[in-house]
Amino acid sequence: MCISKSTAWKNLQQHAEEMSDFHLRDTFANDKHRFDKYTVQFEDFLFDYSKQRITDSTLKKLFDLARESDLESWRERLFAGERINHTEQRAVLHTALRDMSAEPIMLDGENIKLKINHVLKKMEHFVDQVHSGGWLGYTGKMIETVVNIGIGGSDLGPKMLYSGLKAFHTPGITVRFVSNLDGSDLAENLENLNPETTLFIIASKTFTTMETMQNAQSARAWLLRHMNDESAIAHHFVAISTNAESVVTFGIDPDNMFEFWDWVGGRYSLWSAIGLPLALGLGMVHFNALREGAYATDMHFKQAPLEQNIPVLMALTGIWNRNFLGAESLAVLPYEHGLRLLPDFLQQLGMESNGKSVNRYGENIDYATGAIVWGATGNNGQHAFFQLLHQSNTLIPIDFIGSVNSAFAIRGHQQRLFSNMIAQAEALMCGKNEAEVLAEVQTDHDRKIAPYRVFKGNVPSNMLLFNNITPYTLGMLVALYEHKVFVQGVIWSLNSFDQWGVELGKQLASSIFDDLLQSTPTSSHDASTEGLMQYFRSHSMDSLQVDHG
Ligand code: F6P
Repeated sequence: MCISKSTAWKNLQQHAEEMSDFHLRDTFANDKHRFDKYTVQFEDFLFDYSKQRITDSTLKKLFDLARESDLESWRERLFAGERINHTEQRAVLHTALRDMSAEPIMLDGENIKLKINHVLKKMEHFVDQVHSGGWLGYTGKMIETVVNIGIGGSDLGPKMLYSGLKAFHTPGITVRFVSNLDGSDLAENLENLNPETTLFIIASKTFTTMETMQNAQSARAWLLRHMNDESAIAHHFVAISTNAESVVTFGIDPDNMFEFWDWVGGRYSLWSAIGLPLALGLGMVHFNALREGAYATDMHFKQAPLEQNIPVLMALTGIWNRNFLGAESLAVLPYEHGLRLLPDFLQQLGMESNGKSVNRYGENIDYATGAIVWGATGNNGQHAFFQLLHQSNTLIPIDFIGSVNSAFAIRGHQQRLFSNMIAQAEALMCGKNEAEVLAEVQTDHDRKIAPYRVFKGNVPSNMLLFNNITPYTLGMLVALYEHKVFVQGVIWSLNSFDQWGVELGKQLASSIFDDLLQSTPTSSHDASTEGLMQYFRSHSMDSLQVDHG
């Protein structure tokens, strides 16, 4: 049955109407225990959802919805490796990549833990060789810079975590990330690079993605211009892929390929060999700590009762905001400079997984699904877009993410930063009413502008608070969001693991590219597309473009 026709859904709709006068400020004033009631502590992590517009009754109805959606059985199916990505007929087993137990995980009669461990060993050996000088560049020099070429899931996770874990970087090696097809990205990243000490990782699940393949070809040409010997490629290029054949066609020795499998979705792949830039840039110990943190979350998600289950609570409060309070987006605001790329990562995770309007039974659905995920570091955002969060008529729920301690402690910073974060959460929740504004009035002008200084408040937010940012805690964090997205997909009856919308874009770009190369109009497109192609042809100075470096 369509979930929006269920009793649980209808109860929530009615409850939302009854809650129309609810204000967080009043509820906090009336209930001194609200914080204790609506927080969950999980190891060194605190999840505070007390500033959501909910009551015990809301939560009860949301848990009814989760149970009516069969959440617990879908969770079992996920971990058991059932082919829940039914449109691609694939299992969804990113959790196997970080499974620290001694138990086998069977898929099609095979224990996939053996394959996973084999690749992990290969990664470990490679990282050790690169770090110790056992692996050298073509001219005998040690590798100093790793350039990861990949896009989407083959880029965003490793890039976000590499910048998030600066305090854990391996000395003597830096990692850069190239994703954009715009040649400026590659050009900027090749700037001041010594080809003799550079290692390229070509990261692509399919090894067909246009952006990655073009960047890889250009990087290859750059290297050969400096080395002038094809055999140099083997010293400076490795690949991560599920497609061994195309890796070999590109000219990469299969021994220099790190494998992963079709049961790992792109946006869930950082735990696989796609994490190689992290293993090189942080060391294998820290890469493993990341996996351990994620495993701890997996166990929590699997075992904690729904009422104490953090990803479930994140998902359900998100559904309440999206489907019953009408919020269209979610702002992700890390108060942590290192986590500045977290909103980008979560954008792909949430929007590519749940930005869908056909349910898993192939039916069009009549309710909203994945929210628009956006954000930036909170402290900078305060001086940019927070005005709209505070005073517009648009409801934007927020995830605040922070840590008690900073890895780069400069006296006086962390307390101020933390104060800003909780002050914003409090102000957005409480607001400031007219009486309070008028109480501050000193002049006639103050009285006149009083309405401009009123804040409605009642903005719902979560606080995700770590004691410290470490590989382990960031592993926990990423897995919390992965499971949140899964739970929402289950409730919305979606297949969260395909991405046909993106596949369409990939196909269209290739076909237009072929047409663009023709010197005359092809007439196979609409007038606007044809017109734009013709404009490009007549203004392009492609013949003036250079090979970089
Ligand atoms: O952007 C869409 C997508 O299909 C993602 O899901 C994937 O992470 C990315 O493209 C890159 O694909 P590939 O790793 O195959 O190059």
